[in-house]
Amino acid sequence: MNTISTKIAIGYAHSKLILIGEHAVVYGQPAIAIPFPLTVRSVIEQSTGTIKIKSPHYTGPIDKMPIKLEGIEACIKATLDYLDRPVKDILIRLDSTIPLGRGLGSSAAIAIALVRSLFSYFGQSPSQKELSSLVQIAEIYAHGNPSGIDMAAIASDSPIWFQKGKEAKPLTAGAPLYIVVADTGRISDTHSAVEQVREKVLLDPINMQKSMKLIGNIAQEAKNVLSHGNSYLLGKLLDKNQEMLTNLGVTDDGLNRLIETARNTGALGAKLTGSGRGGCMIALAQNLEHGKVIADHLMKSGADKTWYYSTEKYESRIYTRQRSYRIDNTKHK
Ligand code: PMV
Repeated sequence: MNTISTKIAIGYAHSKLILIGEHAVVYGQPAIAIPFPLTVRSVIEQSTGTIKIKSPHYTGPIDKMPIKLEGIEACIKATLDYLDRPVKDILIRLDSTIPLGRGLGSSAAIAIALVRSLFSYFGQSPSQKELSSLVQIAEIYAHGNPSGIDMAAIASDSPIWFQKGKEAKPLTAGAPLYIVVADTGRISDTHSAVEQVREKVLLDPINMQKSMKLIGNIAQEAKNVLSHGNSYLLGKLLDKNQEMLTNLGVTDDGLNRLIETARNTGALGAKLTGSGRGGCMIALAQNLEHGKVIADHLMKSGADKTWYYSTEKYESRIYTRQRSYRIDNTKHK
């Protein structure tokens, strides 16, 4: 969804949730991801001189970006180079409702919105292949050697079936899913979680490969029940996947507490989503009203923020619950 004008161009990207198969996807197993309607907007405006960025995380010239955002700088330069345009004379405004480092694909979403807006500014639209190869540059900085699932899920408006090195395939759900997401409020470091799993694989390759294969089988079953719209069985598969993720060592007490709360509130299933060790968990609710009940219980159990939504297009509103922090400024008086 891009708007073209001579002076201004806008690119959007939504966020993503991994429904089944994180970590095992790095080892070639299939995984399922779905769109999550939090968004990034990148606006390109005409300016003069060095490229400047205005964003909640950094404001200033691109060559002074903090190390954490180096991938974004590289992606902007590569895109302009690809479009055969000079690296100057534009201002980039980035707005995002996706929290950083929570397994929701914020880095890939920023890069996708950016590439779309830069192409649009120069009157073009990137093909899927162009988008992937330019966004991959930012993703390698952010995640080391990503499977590519974040990028594929964010570039797609429907659920996807993903296998590393292969083109993602769109999936059709037989019935809407009612999803609840809770943020632990803690950063989940994809790089180190993937590294921790890699060390386990090196120590015990035979059993770990078996575990990865089992997760792949869960993804395969989930694909079938998703297409038949059987949310009850899908929930059971989410629970099974969480058991495997626990064996991989990527869950933690905070995530487990929220997962337990969701299950005790009648969720059809619940698991962590993304790389784990902090970040977010997801739960499957019976309907939107039930999603609200689960979200409220998750807030009471210590979630920093929750969202619930239906994957049905006409119900595409996302509902947010947020902890309100009391700012203690007495020390400064
Ligand atoms: O970026 P995250 O936290 O959503 O993790 C991506 C999923 C992993 O399987 C853990 C890593 C990858 O590259 O697939």
